[in-house]
Amino acid sequence: MTLQHDAAPVAPGDAAAPVNHAHELEIVEVVAETAEAVSIVLDVPEHAESRFRYRPGQFLTVQIPTERPTGAARSYSLSSSPHFETDLVITVKRTHGGYASNWLCDNARPGRTLTVLPPSGQFTPAGLDNDVLLVGAGSGITPLMSIAKSVLIGGSGTVYLLYANRDRPSTIFGRELTAMLAEFPTRFAVEYWFEDQQGLPTADALARSLELFSAYDAFVCGPAPFMALAHEALRRVGIPEGHITVEKYRSLEGDPFADVVVAPPADGESTATVTVTRDGRTVELAWPRRTKLLDLLLSQGFDAPYSCREGECSSCACTVTAGEVKMLKNDTLVDADLRAGLTLACQAVPITDQVSVDFDQ
Ligand SMILES: Cc1cc2nc3c(=O)[nH]c(=O)nc-3n(C[C@H](O)[C@H](O)[C@H](O)COP(=O)(O)OP(=O)(O)OC[C@H]3O[C@@H](n4cnc5c(N)ncnc54)[C@H](O)[C@@H]3O)c2cc1C
Ligand code: FES
Repeated sequence: MTLQHDAAPVAPGDAAAPVNHAHELEIVEVVAETAEAVSIVLDVPEHAESRFRYRPGQFLTVQIPTERPTGAARSYSLSSSPHFETDLVITVKRTHGGYASNWLCDNARPGRTLTVLPPSGQFTPAGLDNDVLLVGAGSGITPLMSIAKSVLIGGSGTVYLLYANRDRPSTIFGRELTAMLAEFPTRFAVEYWFEDQQGLPTADALARSLELFSAYDAFVCGPAPFMALAHEALRRVGIPEGHITVEKYRSLEGDPFADVVVAPPADGESTATVTVTRDGRTVELAWPRRTKLLDLLLSQGFDAPYSCREGECSSCACTVTAGEVKMLKNDTLVDADLRAGLTLACQAVPITDQVSVDFDQ
């Protein structure tokens, strides 16, 4: 690896144009999936293709037009498969009283553009040859659909989907799932749960449905109460925690599209020094102690990964290889990640005078 770091640490304000990952993508089609959900098909221009490569189960962050001072950024999982679909597809279900989902369902039209951040997220299978158990409810089907199609078409694993909905008409992708069942009769099975016929699911009932799949890798996505039941059912079935991956839907509170502004250190304020490595490139920067690492990097023109910028998604995770940092917020890294030295660049401030972090490890 070639070290390209500067002889003296670069002070904030000295360097290149700030990095911003936002792209405009054109809507090429809007498909009504149910009375309350639409799929929005987005074209990726050739020059941005490398930025928009994704893994099944990942999401885009979308900027919704608003007068609100905090903006309105929301994450939407990709329902398309990177293994055979060239356009990106997000599927949005109206949330009662919600701002962004209703705006998208009412305003998305072919020819209009959406401002988005590139794909991100960890809700993705380790490989496409593993057997996967997908447990979802309502709009939680979106990333599960991407995983199911990818495993069936791009891999050799088998897929079992348990899919709960209020009733049959509110079931997103019903027709597509029927077609997939016909195409992959030995590798794909779906069990529907309709609340209007069976009542609300219980952990006991779900565990009975899932008991044959204890050796599968499980992926769970849906409303919070359903996720809790499903997780409990998977534990009862005996699937180890390390083989259960969950995607929690929530609305972002801040604005990851906002320009990054880093104030230069005040007179007399000490700075730390950080050495940062990504894609084999290493830089050394002066790090004001109250500045979050990601803000520092983006403001200095260093292309660091991010999505939410609020400690929720782990897109910005990097390994601290020397020194110590503290995170102002962490809603995503678990104990094993912390033991491995991971931190969230969007929430990290320095503790020691010298810190080294690596995005490549
Ligand atoms: C990784 C990820 C992937 C996701 N994928 C999808 C997907 O594929 N499809 C999908 O449809 N969604 C998905 N979501 C959820 C999506 O990001 C939004 O959270 C969802 O669309 C609701 O946003 P909204 O702006 O419509 O609602 P919001 O405006 O955020 O409101 C949410 C709820 O809070 C209530 N509320 C709002 N403001 C207040 C207030 N001030 N006081 C009290 N209550 C209030 C609203 O009435 C509503 O019930 C995903 C989320 C994440 C994190
Ligand atoms: S960018 Fe999402 S956790 Fe840092």
